[in-house]
Amino acid sequence: MPGAADSLASVGFYITTAISYVNGAPHLGHAYEAIATDVIARHMRQRAADVFFLTGTDEHGEPVADAADARGIAPQELADENAARFRALLPRLQVSNDFFIRTTDEQHVRRVQAVLQRVHDNGHTYRGLYEGWYCPRCADFKVENEILEGNRCPIHEIRLVREQEENWFFRLSSFQEPLERLFAERPDFVMPAVRFNEARAFVASGLQDVSLSRARLKWGVTVPWDPEHVFYVWFDALLNYYTALGYARDGEDLTDRYWPATYHVIGKDILKFHTVFWPAVLLAAGLPVPEHVFVHGFLLGADGRKMSKSLGNVLDPDDVLKRFGSDALRFYLMRDVPFGADGAVGMDGVTARYEGELANEYGNLASRTIAMIHRYRGGLVPDARTDPELASEFKGLRERVCELLDRADVTAALDQIWQRVRRCNRYVEERAPWKLAKDPAAAATLDQTLASLAEGLRVLTVLLHAYMPSSTATLLTALTPEREPGSNPFGLEGAEFAGRAGGWAVSELAPLFPKVAPPAPQAA
Ligand code: MF3
Repeated sequence: MPGAADSLASVGFYITTAISYVNGAPHLGHAYEAIATDVIARHMRQRAADVFFLTGTDEHGEPVADAADARGIAPQELADENAARFRALLPRLQVSNDFFIRTTDEQHVRRVQAVLQRVHDNGHTYRGLYEGWYCPRCADFKVENEILEGNRCPIHEIRLVREQEENWFFRLSSFQEPLERLFAERPDFVMPAVRFNEARAFVASGLQDVSLSRARLKWGVTVPWDPEHVFYVWFDALLNYYTALGYARDGEDLTDRYWPATYHVIGKDILKFHTVFWPAVLLAAGLPVPEHVFVHGFLLGADGRKMSKSLGNVLDPDDVLKRFGSDALRFYLMRDVPFGADGAVGMDGVTARYEGELANEYGNLASRTIAMIHRYRGGLVPDARTDPELASEFKGLRERVCELLDRADVTAALDQIWQRVRRCNRYVEERAPWKLAKDPAAAATLDQTLASLAEGLRVLTVLLHAYMPSSTATLLTALTPEREPGSNPFGLEGAEFAGRAGGWAVSELAPLFPKVAPPAPQAA
């Protein structure tokens, strides 16, 4: 068996979200993960990386079968209905995924069977009697140290079911040593460190074999060597990351180009599957293990409690999209909740960031910079040497942002950028161009000031593009309307504060973040 660390890095940058169960409609948690992943994907594209970004839906297993039963419809019908809702949300969030996988895709099913057949042929399975505590909402067999008092699920807090059935097992226990080695050799396999430690501790506590199939359930991928069984949904689901590459592009197999994945972005509730089961199955199939699993936290209601309809503390992404638009939702979530930690979110917070930062800081910097160029220089950015002092504030910024985003630290990278948004606004106050404009002897200083502001704004806008694709595009079109045909104004190599700038015309810019009316009072 090859050591985990032997896996060669793929050429491309392959990033994925977890795929969502179709037992319900999308909520803020889904939007959050998709947005964060999208920020990284867009940023890497700006760096001219060969990016593939995958998301999709998890359609088999008990969570979906039970929900369909409860509505008296077939699981496929429920899956079709909800998969469409998940898919429809993505463009509204400006999520730029390259493919949307559904685990009921016939191509996925075939590939799952082929990979797991290999696991079976390699001797990593056996038939046995499973007995243990099971959560039908997680589709997870819990091990003793995960179970809450009173045999309850640590995530859903519902009573676990005692399950006993003849199953196919996956010999997870025989991967004890390879997984220990994986964790010893690759401290960045799981990020952030607190999750790495949690996963490593789970492995260290001793691995038990896990169910690979379910005999009682019909809604799943048939086990090819024992057609009375379907695969346990997690193995079918995890394999989406691998199977998609085989059929996402007609007539092309992207596997060599993108496997192993660079980043799986997931929530902390599904850590065990991605950091323990998943690498083990890949090793069992003779496939390379992903480079990183990034684990984000949970979004909580503004009161710091788990969001729930009964507590009335749910932030509905739809409401935010309708009132503030998708750039604002993206910005708010990436800015307000340190990526990797839990965070409380609510409409008041969105409003505060929108007004206080988007409108009053970035939006204001943009409109006054462009307005002053019109007012004092007839719409032409003076061709002048930029201010070395402002330039020095931007020194190393692009590299720092890249470094942070290489570690998926979307919040810290955004903060680096935002400090410079504030710096530029202070620069306007310090230089007071409205005073300079009155003094004919200060013409050169005014030229320098305006060129420096235009340059700062341009660099910031390139760096912010991954976070807020649409307002940055509007702004850059106004700030640099006359571009060389074929040039990419958002290429990250351009996020460098130049020693000399200007000589180009700007056009008009409508407010990027206009005042939003408070929500209409709810009729009782
Ligand atoms: N559907 C699972 C959940 O919502 C996540 C599956 S991610 C996968 O918790 F990779 F395993 F597919």
